[in-house]
Amino acid sequence: MKTIKEAWKAAVAAAVADLLREKGADPSIAAAVVAETPPDASMGDIGFPMFPLAKPLRMGPPQIAVALAERMASSKAPDGVAKAIGPYLNVFVDRASLAAAVLSARSSGEAYGRSASLAGTRIMMEFSSPNTNKPLHLGHLRNDALGESTSRILKANGAEVLKINLVNDRGVHICKSMLSYMAYGEGRTPDGEGMKSDHFVGDYYVKFNDLKKEDPKAEEKAQELLVKWEAGDPETIALWKTMNEWAVGGIRKTYERTGISFDKYYYESQIYLTGKEEVQKGLASGAFFRAPDGSVRIDLSPIGLEEKVLLRKDGTSIYMTQDIGLAIHRHNDWPFDRLVYVVANEQQYHFKVLFHILASLGYEWARNLYHLSYGLVNLPEGRMKTREGTVVDADTLLDSLRELAIEEIQAKGREDAVGDMAETAEKIALGAVHYYLAQATPAKDMVFNPKESLSFNGNTGPYIQYMGARISSLLRKRDLGEGKASQGTVRPELLTAESEWELVRLVAAYPEAVELAGAEYNPAVVAAHLYAIASAFSKFYHDEPILTCDDADIAATRLALSEAVLVVLKNGLRLLCIPFLEAM
Ligand code: ARG
Repeated sequence: MKTIKEAWKAAVAAAVADLLREKGADPSIAAAVVAETPPDASMGDIGFPMFPLAKPLRMGPPQIAVALAERMASSKAPDGVAKAIGPYLNVFVDRASLAAAVLSARSSGEAYGRSASLAGTRIMMEFSSPNTNKPLHLGHLRNDALGESTSRILKANGAEVLKINLVNDRGVHICKSMLSYMAYGEGRTPDGEGMKSDHFVGDYYVKFNDLKKEDPKAEEKAQELLVKWEAGDPETIALWKTMNEWAVGGIRKTYERTGISFDKYYYESQIYLTGKEEVQKGLASGAFFRAPDGSVRIDLSPIGLEEKVLLRKDGTSIYMTQDIGLAIHRHNDWPFDRLVYVVANEQQYHFKVLFHILASLGYEWARNLYHLSYGLVNLPEGRMKTREGTVVDADTLLDSLRELAIEEIQAKGREDAVGDMAETAEKIALGAVHYYLAQATPAKDMVFNPKESLSFNGNTGPYIQYMGARISSLLRKRDLGEGKASQGTVRPELLTAESEWELVRLVAAYPEAVELAGAEYNPAVVAAHLYAIASAFSKFYHDEPILTCDDADIAATRLALSEAVLVVLKNGLRLLCIPFLEAM
């Protein structure tokens, strides 16, 4: 549709410019004409709202639509007709030419849905950013899915993307797991215990609660250990290194399992001091001031907030100090046009203030910092905690989803069809959780319902994976010579049934969905489009004979349409980090 839609947009803009000129208005306003997609096909394929033209033309929107429709009828417009429908000028494109364009998506393969809308833009994406005292949990799965799929979507729109992970490997919480290991570890190792190494570390963090009961000074000792760490005490550093390697090593295994990757890791321990210097510079330039108590602060009244401390009176830094230094450091590392922080919405204040501070320091690029904020994820039983009071970790959750997927395959009697059961179940589990997380609007809190996410019916990942597998199976049969399709010719003009036209429209509109998802940093737009196309395919499959169609040309054309749908499903699933399945 892209090209057809754009051709129409250009033609309508030209007609609008003519009309503006005739009325003595500024013709350049015509460039702002927007092309929308009407809610259903009976209202046309492209819609142009006339409201913004009412003022400059001094005419009512419906009158403008009529005037333009007349003009378009007599001018050399692209294939199709433009009609005035109330305050809109709606275009009914020539179906055969749109169908032909859609069928050519088959040969574009992975390139179908890519655009150049962000070409030349360098975007740094920070996401995941775990702490090294425990394994990843469900909230991280949401963060990771959002960060990874947004990165893929931005790349599909031509941006150059650098995915980075900020590992929080220092601080008192890390010292707590160390102290607990010193008390109870007795030289044990994850390998020796046969445990995933991040879980091993996480268990000691939990055991710190026991330590506190036994030793009332435990909290104080953790602070002391932090001071020792900062002073570079060799023994402390050695244990810290070992435990961090365990934690990060295990966390990386979870990334591999879920298809998440990073171009670069930053470690807080290596950069946490850099912000201090920047704060001193800001103090010298007058962006900050020294308060009577000796701390360095910024006045936030320009953004309607209270003062904020940036360096404590004893000269130590805080979370904000570190992020100031880090942003500057990163821009020197890899000069970006935009930097996106994928971080939970509980840190909204932090990023609002951070962005303001960087702008006050005079950094031009501070205007292009963006907090991609997302809401909490809970399980249906409420807080995502286990009996022991620990948060449900990502690995355990994925394991139980895989078990549920195996049950589902068995219940459907699909053991033979799927081939490798464990591998398929793992892919279904990942499809279930990544889709469920992707379809929700990022900003909103959500409940993750494992059972619902795995349903093979409805707005779920497995449903979309299943449609992909079903089409793959149809195409395999065609290629083996089943039915008449292989004797027929693909003729786009044969796609006239309502369900076929709906699929044509949706395949055609896929590149726009990818573009919109990129503009809004919102994978849910792609998820919604995939669900719409999977449902439309299901209806088509139900209504029209495909492989079994008697007419060889119609069979060949319907299979070609199915192939185009498959291209969209494969490309869209890849953007959402959902494995594709040939059989299910
Ligand atoms: N590790 C932090 C946390 O667990 C998130 C880091 C967010 N990124 C940043 N640049 N501040 O809350």
